[in-house]
Amino acid sequence: MAEQEIHKNLPSDLPDWPQQSVRAHKLEGDRYSSHEFAEQEWEHVWTKVWLLLGREDELPNPGDWQQEEVGRESILMVRQKDGSIKAFYNVCQHRGHRLVSDDKGHVRRFICPYHSWAWNPDGTLDFVQDPDDFPDGNPCGKLLLEEIACETFAGFIWINMDSDCVSLREYLGPVWGDWEVYGVENWKRYVAKTTVAPVNWKVVMDNFNESYHVNTVHRPKGAEVEKLRIHSGVDTSHTTSRFDMADEGHGRMIMLGGYAGPAIDKTGVVGEPLAGILREWDLDPADFTGRGEATREALQQARRKLGPGRGYDYFEKLNDSQLTDAYHYTLFPNFAVSLWVDGFHFLRARPHPTDPEKCLFDNWWYAPDPGGVTDAARTTAGLVERDAVVEHEIFEPGEASMGLTIDQDMSIFPAQQKGMRSRGYKGAYLAGQESRVSRLHALIDDYIAGRHS
Ligand code: FES
Ligand SMILES: [Fe+2]
Repeated sequence: MAEQEIHKNLPSDLPDWPQQSVRAHKLEGDRYSSHEFAEQEWEHVWTKVWLLLGREDELPNPGDWQQEEVGRESILMVRQKDGSIKAFYNVCQHRGHRLVSDDKGHVRRFICPYHSWAWNPDGTLDFVQDPDDFPDGNPCGKLLLEEIACETFAGFIWINMDSDCVSLREYLGPVWGDWEVYGVENWKRYVAKTTVAPVNWKVVMDNFNESYHVNTVHRPKGAEVEKLRIHSGVDTSHTTSRFDMADEGHGRMIMLGGYAGPAIDKTGVVGEPLAGILREWDLDPADFTGRGEATREALQQARRKLGPGRGYDYFEKLNDSQLTDAYHYTLFPNFAVSLWVDGFHFLRARPHPTDPEKCLFDNWWYAPDPGGVTDAARTTAGLVERDAVVEHEIFEPGEASMGLTIDQDMSIFPAQQKGMRSRGYKGAYLAGQESRVSRLHALIDDYIAGRHS
């Protein structure tokens, strides 16, 4: 079914994004394992795009810093005296030692572990041993840490290694307007998990750029492959979902939520998790027996009426669709977000420093405070943490759970990575609802060829 036809089935209250004509892409297997291709991606993609790397509330005071790795680089983000944040390559300009190795901390000055050069949080050099021993003059007042473009949005810290980059707002295009009404900058972290996945970063991102796998990979054990039978509480059918692609390269998929289709059984009884969501908003699931299609609108009305009084002030800024539906975003190149009315669930794949068949895979969950993670959201996401601002957990694949849904996704990845190395794999044969996968790869090619500015 063409995407234009799909859109006919959608409610008219959804905000519009522009549409794209997508070039079909073969997703040749060596894109996922070749060192040469990974090098091209590094040169033309990773060092040219805005990347979400940090969180503002991790750096409340001047001198607070956070460090994250992307590929071979480590990026240092530091709170300044004037409240702004600067980003630097985490490298001493004496002889190249990394300045910090932890994830975060606080300094008056960064003292390099090798020869103790001392760098101020603003990147100026404050002290060196034996300053009179340098034939080219005292490096203090002369050398600076190498600064990188850095902006903040939605409470996150974004960096760009390209000194000629466009502004973050321009880069994000319509994502900016979609997100800013939620006030995600005020939300707190409930999950922060990272593992090294044994797959190329695009295996992860391809998966989050399509919903075709949802009815197989995420179906309850023993269930037939049948549409609308998963536990997510949203209607996952491609015929009622909306797929958008922004000019800037980002994707959006909207699935109807608070809609009893997926949660209703043959007797017409509204089941979990939707029943729980209804109860949380003072609605009785029994009132919807046999008319599950009415739950979406009822929930929208209940949230509109009760939300602000329960601490969800931002509900007033959301349209009806945003009050119930699942908004899935994929930001080019490596960032996927499910934005729920009360949760910002992000997945991110960062390239491995040396091995194209590995990536760093992150799973974070933010939610409004004091609203917190509701029981229904907990059911959907398989969360266990009850308290906000959890510590960052880092583990080997399989050592701990990334969360039920993500574990299901990850169970697929390694065998696909291996399969795509086969001489017998001739490239992909994609469905219409996998267009955003094609688009991701077409854009990577455009960046490599210099066709995308
Ligand atoms: S490498 Fe940093 S002080 Fe020498
Ligand atoms: Fe999935």
